[in-house]
Amino acid sequence: MNATAAVLYEVKKPLVVEEVEVLEPQAHEVLVRWAANGVCHSDLHVMTGDVPHPLPVVLGHEAAGVVEKVGPGVESVKPGDHVCSSYIPSCGRCRYCINGEPTLCAHRDKPRWFMLDGTARFRKNGRPLHHYLQVAGYATRSVVLEDGVIPIRKDVPLDLACLVSCGVLAGAGPVINRAKVPVGASVAVFGCGGVGLNSIQAARLVGAGKIIAVDVNRKKLEWAEEFGATHVIDASKEDPVAAIHTLTGGGVDYAFEVVGFQETVEQAFLSTRRGGMAVIVGICPAGTRLTIDPMLLVQQRTLTGSSFGAGHQRTDVPMLLDLFMAGKYKLRELISRRLPLAEVNHAYDLLQAGEVKRSVIVY
Ligand code: APR
Ligand code: ZN
Ligand code: ZN
Repeated sequence: MNATAAVLYEVKKPLVVEEVEVLEPQAHEVLVRWAANGVCHSDLHVMTGDVPHPLPVVLGHEAAGVVEKVGPGVESVKPGDHVCSSYIPSCGRCRYCINGEPTLCAHRDKPRWFMLDGTARFRKNGRPLHHYLQVAGYATRSVVLEDGVIPIRKDVPLDLACLVSCGVLAGAGPVINRAKVPVGASVAVFGCGGVGLNSIQAARLVGAGKIIAVDVNRKKLEWAEEFGATHVIDASKEDPVAAIHTLTGGGVDYAFEVVGFQETVEQAFLSTRRGGMAVIVGICPAGTRLTIDPMLLVQQRTLTGSSFGAGHQRTDVPMLLDLFMAGKYKLRELISRRLPLAEVNHAYDLLQAGEVKRSVIVY
């Protein structure tokens, strides 16, 4: 069988949209017909080479679709089920899953660009193609692990549901699950893109008091206000750390870094009060190192991170969709552009130009 896919053959070169061969799902694998995939910055890190990855690769990791076929032994989904992709499959059996940390699942010990048996289900001219994060959502269909799909309710449009597969959960999870921000707490969010807007939105949802948005793009700061920011700081005009300390009288309770630069990680940490917490979400270029004063840790600050929302993806994704259906969480408003797969490179130009909240590739 075939699929149309966006393939990265060489870094800093456009994705090639072409027909590829898709092999049958094997044991504990699922063939999904994707309906939509959101345009996330993480794929761009691979396209630019900031995050090295074996090539060629079918990118995309923020997908939603319909199960088309299941391999032997699959029990949790059947053809016709609606699913979100999980770029961190969780097995439910390893020590991480058992201890309630499924986003750290032992599946991550194996390469995440092939199926668990170390082979690909995509071929082009007889040559295997890698599956980005075992999702490969920039394809009209792909084979994924059973542990890598999350069944969802059928009444959420799939072009909205796909957003929860990365941006929404990756942004909201750190607030809800990692920091567990309490009512009234002060929060700073560095980076108000497709992921960061969700940290802001979650902070509003849990009842944070001051929600301070930091970005270098005026438009993003306007959007941040629409999603719940009470204060905005343009880091291209003023020092965000000093501004946050002034606004909060000594630093925020919680800071979230959703950009992926050494500078912004350090700024997020420095903007916390004594005893505060900084949570890193952004992916920094490989080789990045931090310079921090350990005395600030002695003052009981926490510097930590969050991977795929740091919670329980199998229940968090349906929970966020329930919040959307209850009118308590904005999904529709996150989307600036809907584009066909043939325009995926243009979608990344728009992302780099800072002109969109989120674009969605719709099949
Ligand atoms: N200070 C503050 N904000 C900045 C800075 C800076 N120095 N530089 C860039 N930004 C802002 C951009 O203007 C943009 O609004 O960071 C935001 C990044 O948003 P997107 O490009 O939409 O990226 P997104 O998909 O949200 O991903 C953000 O999270 O999951 C990771 O890999 C992902 O590292 C990436 C990060
Ligand atoms: Zn992503
Ligand atoms: Zn596991």
